[in-house]
Amino acid sequence: MTEIPEHLLKRSKEARGAKSDSPEPAEAKSEAAPVDQKVEPVAQEEKVEAPPKPEASYVSSANKRKKIPWWAASTLLFLPLWAYVYVGTLERPPEEAEGILAVGEQVYAARCASCHGANGGGGSGPALNDGELLLVFPSVASQMDWVIKGSDMYGIGNPYGDPAVGRIVGGGMPGWGDVLTAEELIGVILYERSNHGDSEEDAVFAEALEHAIEDGSLMLPGYFDPMTGSIEDLDLLLSPVAEHSE
Ligand code: HEC
Repeated sequence: MTEIPEHLLKRSKEARGAKSDSPEPAEAKSEAAPVDQKVEPVAQEEKVEAPPKPEASYVSSANKRKKIPWWAASTLLFLPLWAYVYVGTLERPPEEAEGILAVGEQVYAARCASCHGANGGGGSGPALNDGELLLVFPSVASQMDWVIKGSDMYGIGNPYGDPAVGRIVGGGMPGWGDVLTAEELIGVILYERSNHGDSEEDAVFAEALEHAIEDGSLMLPGYFDPMTGSIEDLDLLLSPVAEHSE
């Protein structure tokens, strides 16, 4: 049997209902009731609408005012554009969060490239891609400590990095501990080491770090405190990562 569409069934039911109205008084009663009920809600609606009638002064003055001043109208014209741009900025973070190295790459471009060169070739800051980076900083923690603190906290004339390489603080490297989040800071360092330093080991480390964060064995602070931190502390903090790189 072919199925009869719902709306047709409904229509024929209504038609039947209209015809069989008169013979059965019971149905007439039951139809009368809904009519009464229908009236009530209308009355209620009117009651609900009634209160605003005594207008508050701010309402009446708002009503007297011209609806949209010409200058606001021109601003409103750009509202869709603004919304579009704003939505764009909201959508960007998930892209950034693709991985710790992607975070690091973006931090490098925004914060470090101006002095160290777009590709780490150097500028007012030393080159990072001359093959010395991993010698100056044999461990991730040692490079982190330097970047967290910068020239001023190490003190001009003092050594930094592995003493065997003989780097002496000449000044000009900002401290980043208060500026970058812990994730951004580790990210940019692992990016420099794996990219400029060409270290495969640090690319693996970056992946292991992500796993350690995901499974909760590594808990990063919001920021690294430049005043209280040390290379030993950082080594300890990162120790769970080693278990993930095997
Ligand atoms: C205002 C310029 C400037 C900016 C911006 C800058 N640096 Fe530096 N950086 C320097 C200078 C100058 C030195 C050398 C410091 C010294 O001798 O005291 C340096 C040194 C370094 C070193 C040591 C390199 C070596 O081989 O000795 C690293 C690593 C480093 N910076 C990382 C970074 C990172 C990461 C950023 C971004 C978060 C950054 N720098 C941003 C100027 C800058």
